[in-house]
Amino acid sequence: MAAQNRVAIVTGASAGIGKAAGVALVKAGWKVTFAARRADLLEKIVGECGAGKALAVVTDVGKPESVKNLFAQTKAKFGRLDLLFNNAGMGAPAVPLDELPYEKWLEVVNANLNGMFLCTQEAFRLFKSQNPQGGRIINNGSISAHAPRPMSVAYTSTKHAVTGLTKCISLDGRKNDITASQIDIGNALTELAARMANGVPQADGSIKPEPLMDVKHVGQAVLHMANLPLDVNVQFMTIMATKMPFVGRG
Ligand SMILES: NC(=O)c1ccc[n+]([C@@H]2O[C@H](COP(=O)([O-])OP(=O)(O)OC[C@H]3O[C@@H](n4cnc5c(N)ncnc54)[C@H](OP(=O)(O)O)[C@@H]3O)[C@@H](O)[C@H]2O)c1
Repeated sequence: MAAQNRVAIVTGASAGIGKAAGVALVKAGWKVTFAARRADLLEKIVGECGAGKALAVVTDVGKPESVKNLFAQTKAKFGRLDLLFNNAGMGAPAVPLDELPYEKWLEVVNANLNGMFLCTQEAFRLFKSQNPQGGRIINNGSISAHAPRPMSVAYTSTKHAVTGLTKCISLDGRKNDITASQIDIGNALTELAARMANGVPQADGSIKPEPLMDVKHVGQAVLHMANLPLDVNVQFMTIMATKMPFVGRG
């Protein structure tokens, strides 16, 4: 299918990686629904993209009714769905594990894992019902899907869970031409990661600044994965600031 006829939903699209990926998709000809909670930011992005190419839907991915509305509005405006970029996510303050308030744990699990599951269910329903059938889901994992940072139990647990979700979608989606990828990102310069430049706790107890990469490279990586035909899939991709501490245990 030509890019002009393909439709994507990007969650967490009001800023950072979601915004970069959504804008890259629009520039390549995709129609894109930008979803997040901050209406003003979404409207500004959609205004810059052009109303025929983009749609803003205020969404909290952790709320089932809000997610249903996101998919219904996308279908009403664009008629089908070819890509879900499950990107919305958040971290929790770096505090000792036993001091993390349960409410904060729930907030992170709801945004990072429950939200991905709810969006995945709605995408499956739409992918199965449309003609041609099928579609692609790209889940935003993290380097934290492989290795934790100190004092990151909620974030790391949800990002490890994303790997299980990705594999289940790949397996259960096969018979309906639904494919799933996971992009594991390390240190893209966004609001979430900006603190890395000032120094963050390391495994040995020291505080060290870490290198960051321009978020536009992540947008291009998502675009590459999205543009593949459905019989080809990047199952896992790691894209990171080359010299960040991951490979070599530091
Ligand atoms: N930056 C990195 O280096 C890095 C590394 C690994 C993984 N990641 C992952 O990349 C994703 C995006 O992070 P980012 O770096 O771009 O951070 P960011 O700039 O803070 O953006 C996070 C986005 O998620 C949205 N969001 C948060 N909770 C939401 C909810 N409940 N419902 C809907 N939208 C929600 C936010 O929008 P609203 O506040 O408007 O709702 C915002 O658009 C996250 O899943 C993160 O774990 C980032």
